[in-house]
Amino acid sequence: MKESDIKETQLQTEHINELPSLLNKVQNEKKRVLTASVITFGCQMNARDSEKLAGILSSAGFKLLEDDEDADFVLYNTCTVRDNANRKLYGHLGEAHASKKKNPDKLVAVCGCLPQEPEAFEILKKKYSFIDLIFGTHNIYAFPEYLCRLLSGERHIYEIMDATDRIVEDLPVLRKYPFKSGVNIMFGCNNFCTYCIVPYVRGRERSRESADIIKEIEGLVSSGVKEVMLLGQNVNSYGNGIEGEISFPELLKRVCDIKEIERVRFMTSHPKDLSDDLIKVIRDNTKICRHLHLPLQSGSTRILKEMNRHYSKEQFIDLALKIRSEIPGIAITTDIMVGFPSETMADIEDTLDVIRKVEFDNAFTFIYSKRMGTPAAVRDDQVSEENVKMYFDSVLACVQEYAKKRALVWQGKTFDALVEEEDSSTKGYVTGRLSNNMLVHFAGDKDLIGSIVPVKLDECRGFYYIGSKV
Ligand code: SAH
Ligand code: SF4
Ligand code: F3S
Repeated sequence: MKESDIKETQLQTEHINELPSLLNKVQNEKKRVLTASVITFGCQMNARDSEKLAGILSSAGFKLLEDDEDADFVLYNTCTVRDNANRKLYGHLGEAHASKKKNPDKLVAVCGCLPQEPEAFEILKKKYSFIDLIFGTHNIYAFPEYLCRLLSGERHIYEIMDATDRIVEDLPVLRKYPFKSGVNIMFGCNNFCTYCIVPYVRGRERSRESADIIKEIEGLVSSGVKEVMLLGQNVNSYGNGIEGEISFPELLKRVCDIKEIERVRFMTSHPKDLSDDLIKVIRDNTKICRHLHLPLQSGSTRILKEMNRHYSKEQFIDLALKIRSEIPGIAITTDIMVGFPSETMADIEDTLDVIRKVEFDNAFTFIYSKRMGTPAAVRDDQVSEENVKMYFDSVLACVQEYAKKRALVWQGKTFDALVEEEDSSTKGYVTGRLSNNMLVHFAGDKDLIGSIVPVKLDECRGFYYIGSKV
């Protein structure tokens, strides 16, 4: 860690130590335990950030609730990658305002990617002035300090930073699952795909030092974690910018060398930077899960160029087929976006062609959403709603056809599953995740949660299986 990062970590740790007595004072006045809730929108990075925010709230002494409705302190960790994420947040804020009218002491905070957008920050400050605390992704490490100020009675703490190179380590974390955990290996993004707001709201790419990552995973393992997911917007460029740092394939190897770790996943891999070395490391390490998320976005070389993705249709197909032949049984999933400016049915035909050739095991299909400040948003050749719907329907149908076909391949076979939770729909059943990321529901006791057990995949139900423990 850099000298200044070490100092900041110490400062925030001091604030964390002050929190219990500050909270106690408020609780004594109210004569009850105060509750808090962290509501998360967006990607795995936000989910991981929320675990850190919840860890700080819990170490202060708040009782954590799932729901925001009744909580004394509610923190919305926001996403702005598409417009519908924003709309969901504003819905929650409306409700929070109503419940604050009933309970004026309720504290409302907003953090994450949305307030990093200057326009959104202004709207939150002016139109939602009942919010007590706003901070962004760049100053998330200062949450203990902001919480101290709130508990000391300060309100309207609105702090956003334009950029940061800070990486603050070792703050408390409250993990959602005891047996699996995300691990940040890098923050930010340098790719500037022309539709995407992430580089603007998450800042420039910064990798953590490999020694810190390994230390964190060793700590997780000693507290019972069996599976880690290494997180970054483009894990393949891990280590860039740190002199002498190891590459992503080397990092993966070192993580696999930690004896007690049983499963390793990672997300996301940009196709332009996926090396033969990485393919080899996955192939040779059975701890690395047989799942690769490889976002295509579009199958049209023309559109890919306009998106600034740095690969062509043919390069993507060649890469995916090479991965399939080198690593038998690997599941390849993807993200596809339809309705990028100027897209025509001919471009969609190219996308369908890639889906047919690669046979994705699953895909998230998104409708292009204009993001303020991105180059694509100011183009005057936006696609009509009617065409977007037609594109979306044809891509979705094709994706589903191949996902079903791929899932059928494994029916009747037996695989290890990490049991994650009780099945929400069938009593006496649990849900496990296979190495290839698919889910299997099977009869089993909740004591199995957290263990890896062999399960026969009796019946494929489209995107999941019904199985039996062998
Ligand atoms: N870093 C990852 C993606 C992170 S965002 C990568 O490069 O693959 C997750 C997904 O959201 C993207 O893969 C893309 O399909 C989608 N997305 C990003 N910006 C979008 C926008 N403006 N409209 C619709 N979907 C978008
Ligand atoms: Fe967005 Fe592209 Fe960066 Fe992914 S690689 S976060 S899509 S800019
Ligand atoms: Fe959303 Fe921010 Fe992730 S915009 S997708 S939460 S990086």
